[in-house]
Parts: sequence; C-alpha cells; structure tokens
Amino acid sequence: MKDIDLDKLVKAIEKGKKVTFFNGAGISTSAGIPDFRSPDTGLYSNLAKLNLPYAEAVFDIDYFKEDPKPFYTLATELMPGQFPPTKFHYLIKLFQDKNKLNRVYTQNIDTLERLAGVEDENIVEAHGSFASNHCIECKEEMSSNTFKDLMEKGIPNCESCKGYVKPDIVFFGEGLPKKFFSSWDDDCDNVEIAIIAGTSLTVYPFASLPSEVDKKCIRVLANKEKVGDLGSRKDDILALGGCDEFAEKIARSLGWEKELDKLYDEGQNKYTTKKESEQEKIEDIKFELKKVDIKESKFKNEDKDEVDIDVSNLIEKLKI
Ligand code: APR
Repeated sequence: MKDIDLDKLVKAIEKGKKVTFFNGAGISTSAGIPDFRSPDTGLYSNLAKLNLPYAEAVFDIDYFKEDPKPFYTLATELMPGQFPPTKFHYLIKLFQDKNKLNRVYTQNIDTLERLAGVEDENIVEAHGSFASNHCIECKEEMSSNTFKDLMEKGIPNCESCKGYVKPDIVFFGEGLPKKFFSSWDDDCDNVEIAIIAGTSLTVYPFASLPSEVDKKCIRVLANKEKVGDLGSRKDDILALGGCDEFAEKIARSLGWEKELDKLYDEGQNKYTTKKESEQEKIEDIKFELKKVDIKESKFKNEDKDEVDIDVSNLIEKLKI
C-alpha cells in the first residue's frame, strides 16, 4: 500500500465531500473475529466441528429451524463484547465527529462500528446484528442478557411459544432490514466518496452497491485483494493491503493520526482492563476452588488446615 496516491482523496475530503463506507468482515479480523472466506483463517474453512452439509448452512434459516445447535455454538464464540474495535472502526468515528461521514453500510454483525462510537442513525447493518433477538415463530423479543443466559444453558426457547430465539442477524433465506433499502434510496445518487473495505463483495444485494454509485464518485478499495468492479473506473483508488494500514495512512494524510491513536489506545485499555478483571476473577475462582480441594482432602488426612469457603462470593465471581 506504500506507493498509493491518496492526494485526490485527501483534497476531496478537505473540500468538504463526505464519505460513505461499505464494510465487510475483513475490517474486524485484526480485532480477532475471523472473516468468512479467507482461505484457512476464514470462518467457512473452520466449521468442520459443526458437521454442516455446507458452510453457509450455519446461517441458513431453513437449516436453523431443523437444527439450531451449530448456529448457537458459533454465536457463543462471536458474541459482541469480547472484541475491541480496530483502528479502521475508529477512523469511521473520526469522520463522523468531523462531520465528514455520510453513512456506514456494514455487512458485519459484530456491532464494532457502534462500539467505536458511530451513532445509530449513521449505521446501516445490512445483515442485521446481535444488538437484539426475536423468536422466529411468534416474533416476541428477548433481551440480550436473557438470550446469553439461556444460550449458556442450551437452546434459547421463546418464553411464550417455545419457538427458537435468534439474534436479529439476516440469515440466508431472510429479507434485509427495511432501513437498508430506504437508506440506499436516499443515498444512491449522492455518494461523493465511497470507501469499500474488508469485503469480497460476494453476497447480494450489498455487493452491488459500489457499482451503483454515480460515475463522478471517488471509489476507494481498502482490501487485501481486488474485488468487484473496483479498478474499472478512472477515479478508482486501489489501496490493496490491510484496512488498519489504510486507516493509519489516510489519518496521517489528514492530520488526524494522534486522534486516531488516542481513540484506539483508549479502546484497547477499556477492553484489556475488562479482560484483566475477568482474568483476575478466574484466578480468584481457582484460589477458592483450591480451598475446596484442600477442604475435601481434609477428610482424607488431617494435615491440612480447615478453611471456610465463601460460597456466595464464589458464585458471585462465577457470574463473569
Ligand atoms: N484488511 C483488508 N482486507 C481484509 C483483511 C484485512 N485485515 N482481512 C480480510 N480481508 C479481506 C479478504 O481478503 C476478503 O476479500 O476481506 C474480505 C472478506 O471477505 P468475506 O470473508 O467474504 O467477508 P464479507 O465480504 O464480509 O462476507 C459477506 O457473506 O456469509 C456472508 O453474511 C455473511 O456478511 C457476510 C457476507
């Protein structure tokens, strides 16, 4: 990516043109969330343990109705709150805060754009997200806390009709949210700068958006590989490489590097602190369980001191 010329892009942004982002799973890989189709590391190459007839079945509504377990297994690993936003996500927040963001169209369900501080009205989650959950039969809503608790114990069944409850992620065979179509009706002819990032542009109708923008639009591809029809127009910019590397490069060119680093470091600290506190809890639990072990062994031989087990504290600590 070192020798790409971003001058045209930087000048357009400085002249006041706004950016519309079109995001895919590749912008979250550096947060620790696998994308779908990268060879070896992509999710679809690592679902063997779920014994699926084909990889995408894990997100297929008809397959889910037959056997929801594979999805729930995967959902536990992908639940938001475990992964921090990346530099690319914080770049979007900077565009928003500097009033240079038109909209973010994302295919991602990880809610990292929200976690980075991008406002709801600026985000179109084309494939839904984990932000809410509904019964697939009676459509009753279930809170995320209840959903998480039930998922840890097994299959989250609806409290009213016992149907399966799933997060509002768009499965293959389901329609996209109304907000996707209404937003695109408003935006389609007004996209001045399109930044397409971390996507293979495989899944329609999302994949068609970058080719629908006006011919005067500056289109930038920030992706490890060339995809879609990017590169076919004279003003296209191909920033082939890592999304975060692109974020750092464009922030440097706009003089936003320090602000981007600050946002990212704050996000990382918040996450690491949370992770450390969980690690501390786990260490405490191990210590408490060791006490139980000692107490148990006490009945076997008299050479261990008896200890009081603070069971309520232990249960409290288990509620990570
Ligand atoms: N930086 C830049 N590009 C990256 C990075 C990275 N760090 N990591 C991966 N990529 C690129 C890959 O090379 C690939 O081109 O991102 C793209 C990811 O493509 P997919 O895995 O197909 O993800 P996505 O395009 O979001 O998938 C679309 O498919 O299964 C459905 O609903 C699911 O929303 C998803 C849709």
